Amino acid sequence: MSVLQGKKILLGVSGGIAAYKTAFLVRLFIKAGAEVQVLMTPASKDFVTPLTLATLSKNPVYSEFIHAEEDGNPTWNNHVDLALWADFMVIAPATANSLSKMANGTCDNLLLATYLSSKCPVYIAPAMDLDMYKHPTTLDSFTKLQLFGNTIIPAESGELASGLSGEGRMAEPENIIAFLEADILKNLPLNGKKILITAGPTYEAIDPVRFIGNHSTGKMGFDLANEAAKLGAEVILISGPTSLKVSNTSVKVVRVVSSQEMYDACHLYYNSMDVVIAAAAVADFTPKNVAVQKLKKTEGDFSIELVKTKDILASLGAAKKNQLLIGFALETENELENAKLKIEKKNLDLIVLNSLNDEGAGFGKPTNKITFIDKDFKEESMELKSKEEVAIDILNKVIQHFHA
Ligand code: CTP
Repeated sequence: MSVLQGKKILLGVSGGIAAYKTAFLVRLFIKAGAEVQVLMTPASKDFVTPLTLATLSKNPVYSEFIHAEEDGNPTWNNHVDLALWADFMVIAPATANSLSKMANGTCDNLLLATYLSSKCPVYIAPAMDLDMYKHPTTLDSFTKLQLFGNTIIPAESGELASGLSGEGRMAEPENIIAFLEADILKNLPLNGKKILITAGPTYEAIDPVRFIGNHSTGKMGFDLANEAAKLGAEVILISGPTSLKVSNTSVKVVRVVSSQEMYDACHLYYNSMDVVIAAAAVADFTPKNVAVQKLKKTEGDFSIELVKTKDILASLGAAKKNQLLIGFALETENELENAKLKIEKKNLDLIVLNSLNDEGAGFGKPTNKITFIDKDFKEESMELKSKEEVAIDILNKVIQHFHA
């Protein structure tokens, strides 16, 4: 899945022949799952029509500060709102004229005023003739714009509209997309980190049709996996039986059923991981023998002999090298003491404590109320939050660990 999925892109088109390529660029943004809003300089409308870009972006295209409504009442296109809406601004093509104005703070059109109001990262794809591209004033504009924190997507070499051949062609739309994706990914706080997350219940078979399980839905682990992937991590989600699906297709999902299968899958990947977050509700006991045939009703009472399952997290703690190990503790009494015992017993760096005494915490709920306890037993209690927000809080701890 593209990192542009769900992102809001403000595309500023200035007046050069390369503007015709923005039709393809808008299509690629939409294909990557981004939302696109196009701004045009008045001159750019000679090269590509606003109708083309409005149709492809599925949004009205703005180029003037003032906009005449059908009833004759003019409305103002608020450049500040447009700038604040965007996650990223992309100016493509950026002509020598627009570059120079941007470098000097001129804002005599809507695109330039919006650029000047923007707080998001701005990417600039210049396009001009080769001599203009090499001119000292253009180079000066590049230097200034980069100093201001903008990113230049270098022009490519090739045939130019003037008939000359050389550097100055706007980067091809697919290369602009690839540049943005790589740059966004590089700047994500968990880029390059490998995170293993366990989720859901485990089912321990009694016979071919029955099992011992629990009420875990897996939501906490799935939210963690989605959010971690959004933050740039490479995520492996090892999940017990659940109907949930990950929305972020870059997450590798390994489906397991029993605690032994979850144990084997965790150990298969563990050595190459940087972080493990164990959110699964693993069964603590499993039937000693699994009946090959369906068990029939007997006259009297019936009992099943249970044996302990392997403690997956404790086994990972025992084999720990550099991994950051985060466990959950679901407690109903003596919460803090029990959680601290688990930190020691399982060699954890951090434990996420949920108490079933807290309203809104636990299985099957969309919310969770947690307390962090670190390996030095420092406690931090959080408010009742949605599981997505709790996932972000947990991942912020991971980010702090790597960026401390
Ligand atoms: N865990 C595990 N393997 C098990 C049991 C638990 O990996 N066989 C992990 C869980 O994923 C969780 C943590 O250990 O991150 C604590 O789970 P919890 O059920 O609260 O504690 P238990 O260790 O099972 O102890 P108890 O049930 O006695 O509280």
